Amino acid sequence: MLKLPSVDQLITEFDTVLRTLAAPATSARQHPDAALEEAELSEAEKTHAAGLMRVNHCGEVCAQALYQGQALTARDPAARDALKQAAQEEVEHLAWTERRLAELGSHRSLLNPLWYAGSFAMGVTAGVIGDKWNLGFLAETERQVTAHLESHLSQLPEQDAKSRAIVTQMAIDETSHAEQAVALGAAPLPLPVVQLMTATSKVMTGLSYRI
Ligand SMILES: [Fe+2]
Ligand SMILES: [Fe+2]
Repeated sequence: MLKLPSVDQLITEFDTVLRTLAAPATSARQHPDAALEEAELSEAEKTHAAGLMRVNHCGEVCAQALYQGQALTARDPAARDALKQAAQEEVEHLAWTERRLAELGSHRSLLNPLWYAGSFAMGVTAGVIGDKWNLGFLAETERQVTAHLESHLSQLPEQDAKSRAIVTQMAIDETSHAEQAVALGAAPLPLPVVQLMTATSKVMTGLSYRI
């Protein structure tokens, strides 16, 4: 039986929303690009790298919202703890991409509040349907994010070692999030749901690359 969140829980969740959208994120781990030198990039390369890193930052905003919605509605304490742990790593990804975007002289997506709201609603829905679907949704999201990150590695300027180091570490983390969800009992999602998720992420990435 689904338990409704308490007022305290709701206040905590609202605090997460504000921190994700408005406050700078921090990382306990060292940023993966910390020891690397800034490369010489043309204006076009910088704009392209910033567009890709904005997509990745936006993906992390969505991850926060998804995990938040899912943790709020997950029934199994083990699943809830795993979601919270993964969410913590997503905050670090948020910090890495945020700083990199600023270094590239660019901005976060203006559409972030919109993506946050949509992802939160999806997370809550998945959680309400049941833990195995909740985890299945999470595993599929992480797989799709990993595929995106890998495609970005082939699109980022070759000499932009800083962006590449961040994306590489994120892909490693997302793969382990997907594996963890499977280990906790994620159900494989029906093909139409996977296709819908792919189509939605295409729209999201196309828009956040530009704005
Ligand atoms: Fe992430
Ligand atoms: Fe993840």
